[in-house]
Amino acid sequence: MSAEGRKSRRVLIVGATGRLGAAIAEALANRGDELVLTARDPKKLEHLSVMLDRGRGPAKVVCADLTHREAVRQIVEKLRASVPTTDSRGSIDDIVLACGPFPRTPFEDLRREDLERTLTVHAIAPLLLVHALAGDLAKAKGAIVELGDAGTTRPFEHYVAYLTAKGAMRTGLRALAVELAPAVRVNIVELGIVAEPDPEADTDPLRKHRLATRSQLGRFGAPEEVAHVVLALLDATWATGEIWGVGR
Ligand SMILES: NC(=O)c1ccc[n+]([C@@H]2O[C@H](COP(=O)([O-])OP(=O)(O)OC[C@H]3O[C@@H](n4cnc5c(N)ncnc54)[C@H](OP(=O)(O)O)[C@@H]3O)[C@@H](O)[C@H]2O)c1
Repeated sequence: MSAEGRKSRRVLIVGATGRLGAAIAEALANRGDELVLTARDPKKLEHLSVMLDRGRGPAKVVCADLTHREAVRQIVEKLRASVPTTDSRGSIDDIVLACGPFPRTPFEDLRREDLERTLTVHAIAPLLLVHALAGDLAKAKGAIVELGDAGTTRPFEHYVAYLTAKGAMRTGLRALAVELAPAVRVNIVELGIVAEPDPEADTDPLRKHRLATRSQLGRFGAPEEVAHVVLALLDATWATGEIWGVGR
């Protein structure tokens, strides 16, 4: 269908203000989708919301910290208040899961709290959010796309807590794909490295080169390249439970 003939989707972007979330939000706004942006920092959210105004008003924003136990309930309540559901359409049609963080946890300092925190932000809260909004997504034959990490199948050092959480999310989403089919599709983009690595981690001058050459293409990716694949998977009406690796 041409861009002009395409029906606008209501898309919730979790981690919308991040490097990748913002690029995905921009690509979705450019094709006419109606966005709800969520993250913690209200200023960054408001700024992005205004930037994404394509003549239909700023995007809706919902502030929430996914480490808080009440975060999922708060997001759903605020969503319902700003985009009321009807019998035929929910508050949201599709979800993009692009939330951080990427904490370095050197093995010798690894603590229970590191694992609990990363598991909560990267797996428990997003899975519960999808669970809470599954009915909305089903009304729209919706899709979920998550930004996974290639390190879950080819781990790198100093990130045990993060990689454990991303691995849990990978499995959780594939299980949800089974639970939610055929009404809702669930897919993952499994990324190599997009942004420059954490400068603190770069004591080794060869590390950057080594990291870039983990990908056969020999370089880091650009946020726009990730956005391109996310949009393709949102639109891939015959794919669920799939993992599309890029730059790994
Ligand atoms: N960039 C890469 O190279 C790369 C590679 C592989 C996978 N990924 C995955 O891609 C996703 C996005 O990466 P990115 O580089 O765009 O990350 P980023 O720039 O660090 O952005 C992270 C986003 O998550 C939000 N966030 C962080 N902690 C949160 C919390 N406790 N509650 C709610 N929101 C929170 C941040 O906003 P606030 O701080 O305002 O909350 C921000 O919007 C992540 O899931 C990451 O694992 C990235």
